[in-house]
Amino acid sequence: PKKTVVGPLVGAVVQGTNSTCFLVFSSKTADLLSHHQVELTEDFPREEWVEQDPKEILQSVYECIERTCQKLAELHIEVSNIKATGVSNQRETTVIWDKLTGEPFYNAIVWLDLRTQPTLENLSKKIPGNNNFVKSETGLPLSTYFSAVKLRWILDNVRQVQKAVEEGRALLGTIDSWLIWSVTGGVNGGVHCTDVTNASRTMLSNIHSLEWDKELCDFFDIPMDILRNVWSSSDIYGRIKAGSLEGEPISGCLGDQSAALVGQMCFQEGQAKNTYSTGCFLLCNTGHKCVFSAHGLLTTVAYKPGRDKPVCYALEGSVGIAGAVIRWLRDNLGIINTSEEIETLAKDVGTSYGCYFVPAFSGLYAPFWEPSARGIICGLSQFTSKNHIAFAALESVCFQTREILDAMNYDCGIPLSHLQVDGAMTNNRILMQLQADILHIPVIKPSMPETTALGAAMAAGAAEGVGVWSLKPEDLSVIFMERFEPQIKATESEIRYSTWKKAVRKSMGWVT
Ligand code: G3P
Repeated sequence: PKKTVVGPLVGAVVQGTNSTCFLVFSSKTADLLSHHQVELTEDFPREEWVEQDPKEILQSVYECIERTCQKLAELHIEVSNIKATGVSNQRETTVIWDKLTGEPFYNAIVWLDLRTQPTLENLSKKIPGNNNFVKSETGLPLSTYFSAVKLRWILDNVRQVQKAVEEGRALLGTIDSWLIWSVTGGVNGGVHCTDVTNASRTMLSNIHSLEWDKELCDFFDIPMDILRNVWSSSDIYGRIKAGSLEGEPISGCLGDQSAALVGQMCFQEGQAKNTYSTGCFLLCNTGHKCVFSAHGLLTTVAYKPGRDKPVCYALEGSVGIAGAVIRWLRDNLGIINTSEEIETLAKDVGTSYGCYFVPAFSGLYAPFWEPSARGIICGLSQFTSKNHIAFAALESVCFQTREILDAMNYDCGIPLSHLQVDGAMTNNRILMQLQADILHIPVIKPSMPETTALGAAMAAGAAEGVGVWSLKPEDLSVIFMERFEPQIKATESEIRYSTWKKAVRKSMGWVT
């Protein structure tokens, strides 16, 4: 059969907590041509622990690439048109592996893991002089969320790792580093690197200099020689060593939330997006300025679009549990069989009937940073059904977004007039309408919600030495946007929001 002519293509690996996906875009039109997704296992070996198998993650990447390439071939599209691949990944999740064997020394400790709470308490006691030291150098509050404490825990608790560090065999990384090292050759010359966005989530990188910081490494007692090179987000890091994309460059790398900011074309100061995935992440571009929050938000690196290009920063509101609450209803309570079913359950009742669900499974993140919080479902009566609980779970995602949007509005001074959204959950129309009602501003969703992948593909395709991505943001302004307008009175959303706040207060201090 005749081959379809499509011009240069760019691939994107989207490695999230819940799943891995590989997607292929046309670099001329940004059309999504093919993709394949694989759901991942999450291990909860003890209460408050969250782990994943780094090899399962790597395998899922290979599987997604190969299956997507097969699908392209079925569409009569030559795989050799793929000229570059970008990587976007769940951030903070920490892996440590053996550079001689390629074997991980321990499971990946996932960003949501809370085991490092005692480590953190000990560290807090030794903050030199002023307790803003870590925040002013990294933009981040001391929290179990970030990589440095996870690494500290591994070094303290996994004997094999201590020995490997002494022998110079240990390599450390966030998921991007693990994947790029593995696919560019692993033990046979794999490239050990990361990009500035991922480095900014480790708590070991200085947000001003964008380099590993000796004072921070000393503070966490992390040997600097196990850290890898920090690159920009758009650069040729290395070439894929095997499989259908053998020889093609990996030339984009961004933490998933930064990738979504790029994919949503938020290149101007003041532009923001909210991604609904395992958690929920609202990022607002603050341009070349590092803006520090007075309301519980993080300062983070948004992107650096090339070696010689200036860095852009963002303010971020991070919510730990969003999509994960739906997975919990499916896997732990069994009240739905598929994630999509929650929409039907919620739609059938159209209200939570006074039930509020605070899914603080891993404490509360922004704006509270309260590790003592735990999940609660309250306001139950004999009338409450699983439908109401499903509705309350969706509402919890919207209320949590309202908390971080309020914080963002206070910090920025100019309230957002609308919310740009993306992520798999935005296919849930009930959720999107609820979000508009609870925020009382319009919610705007692109027809192609895979903006995380698009951002990674743009970075890869535009890298120096690749140069196949010629589209400008204005070329993409034709992308169809769906708008959800608030349909309830502002007073009603305020009443519901204030009851939510009451529930949040009850969830706090549960664990002492
Ligand atoms: O900071 C954690 C975040 O990057 C995780 O993203 O897509 O797995 O919810 P996701």
